[in-house]
Amino acid sequence: MKSLLDDAACRAAEYLASLPERRVAPAPEAVQRLAALDVPLQDEPRDPQRVLAELDELVTPATMAMAGPRFFGFVIGGSLPAALAANWLAGAWDQNAGLYSVTPGVAHLEQVVLRWLNDLFGLPAGTTGAFVTGATMANFTALAAARHRVLQRAGWNVEADGLFDAPPVTVVVGEEVHITVLKALGMLGLGRNRVLRVPVDAQGRMRAAELPRIAGPTIVCVQAGNVNSGAFDPIAQVCERAREAGAWVHVDGAFGLWAKTSPRYAQLVRGVERADSWSTDAHKWLNVPYDCGIALVRDPHALAAAMAIQAAYIPSADADRNPFDYTPEFSRRARGVEVWAALRSLGRGGVAAMIERNCAAAQRFAERLRAAGCEILNDVTLNQVLVSFGEPDETNRVIAAIQADGTCWTGGTVWQGRTAMRISVCSWATTEADVDASVAAMLRVRDEVL
Ligand SMILES: Cc1ncc(COP(=O)(O)O)c(C=O)c1O
Repeated sequence: MKSLLDDAACRAAEYLASLPERRVAPAPEAVQRLAALDVPLQDEPRDPQRVLAELDELVTPATMAMAGPRFFGFVIGGSLPAALAANWLAGAWDQNAGLYSVTPGVAHLEQVVLRWLNDLFGLPAGTTGAFVTGATMANFTALAAARHRVLQRAGWNVEADGLFDAPPVTVVVGEEVHITVLKALGMLGLGRNRVLRVPVDAQGRMRAAELPRIAGPTIVCVQAGNVNSGAFDPIAQVCERAREAGAWVHVDGAFGLWAKTSPRYAQLVRGVERADSWSTDAHKWLNVPYDCGIALVRDPHALAAAMAIQAAYIPSADADRNPFDYTPEFSRRARGVEVWAALRSLGRGGVAAMIERNCAAAQRFAERLRAAGCEILNDVTLNQVLVSFGEPDETNRVIAAIQADGTCWTGGTVWQGRTAMRISVCSWATTEADVDASVAAMLRVRDEVL
């Protein structure tokens, strides 16, 4: 076992050391070589060291350098050293993190992390939470608590009786709601399409003045951090209107909630503590390895009512909090471990510094690209930059060329009718030199393809 794990550690360290220099997207030949994996499963066992070598030789070259400093696609983030190392140790522990009495170490750690997160995000005392796979499931989990509470207030027990014959629930979202909130609503039987959509402004922010009149069981979903522009809905205003009318307010803060940790950017999420639930990711801006999202809910009873189940063979809850009373999963890995390690290694100041460094890098991208004649389509208030290189086809050609070039990786989008390159800076490892090298590559390929 020891020599196998040493071998894995050596290979992983070599991989990480290669990231700043290697091309970001895998070479086409490396992707073609994956065909060598397409073999029938053999009858005999294989030496684990050979298995590891085969994995490394065939799959490592076909990975995207998402853990490196110049991957700017989607909203991804790398892995902080402490978080990655903790992930390995937790893999060796192999804890099923559902019950405190059975896995006290990791269950305790998760309680500590939830307290730290409440503190970092300035959420109300008593807010509880759940560690899930990502913001999609965090939205699902928090919205399940919302569904429970708004229907319970209308005299309906949705967990027991389902949605057949239940009072209708009104769900309000911004026109720019993230697709995963709609997916979560669909999974909860609340429907992807029967939402009321509030118009947005040029940055994608909900126009609070255009919120519909709220009556009856209602859930309002706001967004902290638009996946394209990085903009924030006016959370304080929406909370005031919605909560006065008895609605539940949910904040999708997959990456934007982390703005709260920085004194410089916290005003973007002003009023966030007035909401009822929040979802965020640790695998994005906190830079823990995939996968880790977190649902936070002000009312622990609402979340437990939606999630807790019992059986004779399960030790009943005592003074200690059983994590699985709050998660959709019965069995799961102890995701809080990496979050604890990331927060413990960075401290409050380190989290804020990482957020601010990434936002400054986004500004640097925007300034340099604008100076070179590119059009920046959004107000760069956070870590997201939308760039037009001209006509849609021209922008698409530059995006394809930068992906093939390998210096960095950015994706594309259509922002309010305009085709754009989408740059998202959220890796702890990105430096100013990485931004400058990436801008230089973008301008070089632009001149080649246009
Ligand atoms: C605003 C927002 N919400 C939700 C999600 C979904 O997150 P995940 O992919 O972790 O489920 C994303 C992903 O980018 C996002 O930007």
